[in-house]
Amino acid sequence: MHLLPFLSLCLSPLISMAAPNISSAPSSSASPSATCAPAAPASDSHLASPSFLRFLSTQFPSTSKLANPYTYISGIVFASTNHAEAAGFVHNTTVPACESIKYREALYKTAVLYGAPRMINSLLACGPTTGEAKKTRRNPRESVEELERRGVELFNSTYGETAKVTRERLSTIHPDFDYMMMTLVYGPIYGFDDVLGEMETSFAMIAALIGADAPLQTSWHVAGAMRHGATKEEVDAVLRIAEYTKKRVNGEKVPGFEEDL
Ligand SMILES: *[C@@H]1O[C@H](CO)[C@@H](O)[C@H](O)[C@H]1NC(C)=O
Ligand SMILES: *[C@@H]1O[C@H](CO)[C@@H](O)[C@H](O)[C@H]1NC(C)=O
Ligand SMILES: *[C@@H]1O[C@H](CO)[C@@H](O)[C@H](O)[C@H]1NC(C)=O
Repeated sequence: MHLLPFLSLCLSPLISMAAPNISSAPSSSASPSATCAPAAPASDSHLASPSFLRFLSTQFPSTSKLANPYTYISGIVFASTNHAEAAGFVHNTTVPACESIKYREALYKTAVLYGAPRMINSLLACGPTTGEAKKTRRNPRESVEELERRGVELFNSTYGETAKVTRERLSTIHPDFDYMMMTLVYGPIYGFDDVLGEMETSFAMIAALIGADAPLQTSWHVAGAMRHGATKEEVDAVLRIAEYTKKRVNGEKVPGFEEDL
């Protein structure tokens, strides 16, 4: 809720200029060829419209002590479903400059789940980093041993009592998979928590996995978010925000949201 003031402060004139003009859409009385044409997909500025983002912001419990994560949750779903411009609109219209790095970090951290090209296109649509967000965060000289240690530690706390069996099982899919996960991904990417903490990282992963249609892995990280201290209400809200964003992308009705056209 406390982010709402930013919504009005940061509303870019670009958004209203780019808003689709419904009255110019082909009507049923148009020429035969127009009648047979498939419906034009919603533009990205419409997908990430101010009223839809405001609606998403109300989905997170106001009783939660956490910062409302709706911006990066919806941004990741747009990025992972290949709607880079929509991810850029979320950033430009709802994220205050001082939180730009948090939004970028959420997309960066989860790129391994939905694909680097989609992350790159989405962050390009946010424009270049400025100010504090330009500062390098990770230490590129950290030792492999330290990365592996931190990776295993985070994997353990995410998977709890299922960590050992999950690691063993995933080692059977490729002999170097464990190295990839612990040393290259969990250690340096997920395990860096100066910008996004463990619980927020789990929220971001849930959004990426919903966007990427991976229900099995989503369930793993729903459990992980709870192990990192999230309440059921908070996790349910994250799932809802991600699912609603995906419905929006798919042109499906979003429960409780009145169309803003
Ligand atoms: C919307 O489209 C209609 C019909 O093409 C046009 O008359 C009108 O000027 C347009 N409005 C805007 C704001 O572009
Ligand atoms: C977001 O703002 C940046 C300027 O900071 C601009 O380059 C970019 O095109 C904008 N993105 C969208 C989707 O409007
Ligand atoms: C991770 O958990 C395994 C058991 O599943 C344990 O042997 C190992 O010491 C733990 N490592 C860290 C860094 O927490």
